Amino acid sequence: MTFNSSPAAQPAPLPAAARAAEVSELFRKVYGGQCRLFRAPGRINLIGEHTDYNDGFVMPAAVDLDCWVAIAPAATRTVEVHSANFKQNRTFHLDQPQPLRDWSDYIQGVAAMLQQSGYRLPGAKMLVASDVPMGSGLSSSAALEVAAGLALLDLQPASWNRLQLAQLCRRAENEFVGARCGIMDQFVSCNGKAGHLVLLDCRSLEARYLPVPEDARWVICNTMVKHAIAAGEYNVRRSQCEEGVSLLSGGLPGITSLRDVSLEDLERLRAALPPVIHKRCLHVITENHRVHWAAAALEQRLLQRFGHLMSESHRSLRDDYEVSCPELDLMVDLANRVSGVYGARMTGGGFGGCTVNLVAAEAVPEFTTKIAKTYQARMGVVPEIRVSTASEGAGRWRAATS
Ligand code: GLA
Repeated sequence: MTFNSSPAAQPAPLPAAARAAEVSELFRKVYGGQCRLFRAPGRINLIGEHTDYNDGFVMPAAVDLDCWVAIAPAATRTVEVHSANFKQNRTFHLDQPQPLRDWSDYIQGVAAMLQQSGYRLPGAKMLVASDVPMGSGLSSSAALEVAAGLALLDLQPASWNRLQLAQLCRRAENEFVGARCGIMDQFVSCNGKAGHLVLLDCRSLEARYLPVPEDARWVICNTMVKHAIAAGEYNVRRSQCEEGVSLLSGGLPGITSLRDVSLEDLERLRAALPPVIHKRCLHVITENHRVHWAAAALEQRLLQRFGHLMSESHRSLRDDYEVSCPELDLMVDLANRVSGVYGARMTGGGFGGCTVNLVAAEAVPEFTTKIAKTYQARMGVVPEIRVSTASEGAGRWRAATS
């Protein structure tokens, strides 16, 4: 995140070199000895929500908030993990994966998937320190999985690539943790590019990088709530999409996902769908169109148009997909009243977390102050507000030598 002059804005995180030194020092305190360091970023999604698990299109960017993992090999078959955020230690056995139902499952899950895929991992000592706020829709879980995956892969000799890593991390979340997420978060954490948005086709996994406009900023506003229903409702939405595909395939033989259904087909076959399933399908199909239109708008520097598509996306998520909540709606509503705002929408899975706002660069200080004040007055909570810069994907941290 870049620093913002307004008092309401969040302070910038430590520069990476300082944070790296801090994390190695923590490792030394907990375990003693040397370590290697890896980092993986969280993400914002500009448009294309709940489309990834429907083989659709998304447009996220990696943000400059990282999960850090420090690691050293151990001569055992166990992995010891210390979380600096939770101040907790966990140990798991590489040959007997057993979910513990807490934060460590993201790491254990990645280790289990790596081993299942044929990588032979040694035991390890790990320390995790994440700057990605948890439960805020910025994908702290994918950042943890990817950073842990990079660190574990570094301890073994076989070759690998970033797409495999993203896919393994997603499998860890689907099969070990039990959240049926799509590929977006892990893909962008692995493949983000500084100064660029990632336009990703979630079926072919082909990505195109789009430069971020220089005269506007992406501002993230955290509602500071996360409703307990989020995880359960996410899986329900996914099943509803699958039900839609199954019902629509009666009239559209051969379709395998909502990606294959046009708006015309959906309306023609509407009678085959219960109303709630129709609404879910409508969101996904229209959202895929919005992603393409938004990419075209960005390429032509049409920021008003991009902002309008963001607002339409929020409306569709609120009314058709029903994954918003009063706090997100309020945050979006307040943003739309501030001059210099092109568009605002919820970002991520929903039911709390953050909104993302496209704001003219010169309007950012006033935006930040106004939102902080009005949201606090209405909700009694101080929202965290950050100006985001699109960042580089995950990697090993190597201290500069000179
Ligand atoms: C979560 C999931 C992603 C994606 C978004 C919604 O972040 O992890 O795969 O489905 O929700 O777009």
